[in-house]
Amino acid sequence: MRLDKLLANMGYGSRKEVKQLLKNGAVKVNEVQVKDAAAHVDPHKDVVSILGEQVVYKEFIYLMMNKPPGVVSATEDYRDRTVVDLLEPEDRHFDPFPVGRLDKDTEGLLLLTNDGKLAHNLLSPKKEVPKLYYAKVEGIVTEEDISLFAKGLTLEDGFETKPGILHIIKADTVSEIELTITEGKFHQVKRMFEAVGKRVVYLKRMSMGSLKLDHDLELGEYRELTDDELSSLLSS
Ligand code: URA
Repeated sequence: MRLDKLLANMGYGSRKEVKQLLKNGAVKVNEVQVKDAAAHVDPHKDVVSILGEQVVYKEFIYLMMNKPPGVVSATEDYRDRTVVDLLEPEDRHFDPFPVGRLDKDTEGLLLLTNDGKLAHNLLSPKKEVPKLYYAKVEGIVTEEDISLFAKGLTLEDGFETKPGILHIIKADTVSEIELTITEGKFHQVKRMFEAVGKRVVYLKRMSMGSLKLDHDLELGEYRELTDDELSSLLSS
């Protein structure tokens, strides 16, 4: 990889700014000053430093966000703030995108990455990655609902869902439930409850595959995945 590309990719400025850094003699490769922007380096083997500080190369970024309500799961939107707008510039620089969509009013676990292969694996219907949601639902959720969800439901457009595992935390005028589904159709949880005549009034995603929402993250906060979280996700 070209040295100027590596430095620009790692957020040390535009290609033009990076060229200036090189010209100024700020950059060393394996302890040797290099001024040639076109010099080739192996980002996995060569040790690159700027003013004595080692440049740690990474290609991919994996972020876990506790999505707040009121922002859309997109990279750009002409009207609303997006989850990408909540990222620090040094993370946005990697061009991460949200893996799947949560509705504007839905909270909770959202993975953002620039690793298209991982995103594809997590979203592929064939993989049937389980997603766990916590919801508050208007109306008393019943044992009968549990069996209906377990059989799979027919949504208003005729789509037949796969079985969902419904667990009642509290059955009341506003019930509290947990639901695990392996699909990700538009508004799926809300539409599954509509199919049994009930309305979701609060929705939060708790987990996706092996990845569980870190409860230390406040709404709108995010952090990089730990090595363990990442290796479980990559190996599933
Ligand atoms: N199901 C929904 O209805 N909304 C979401 O945001 C996610 C799943």
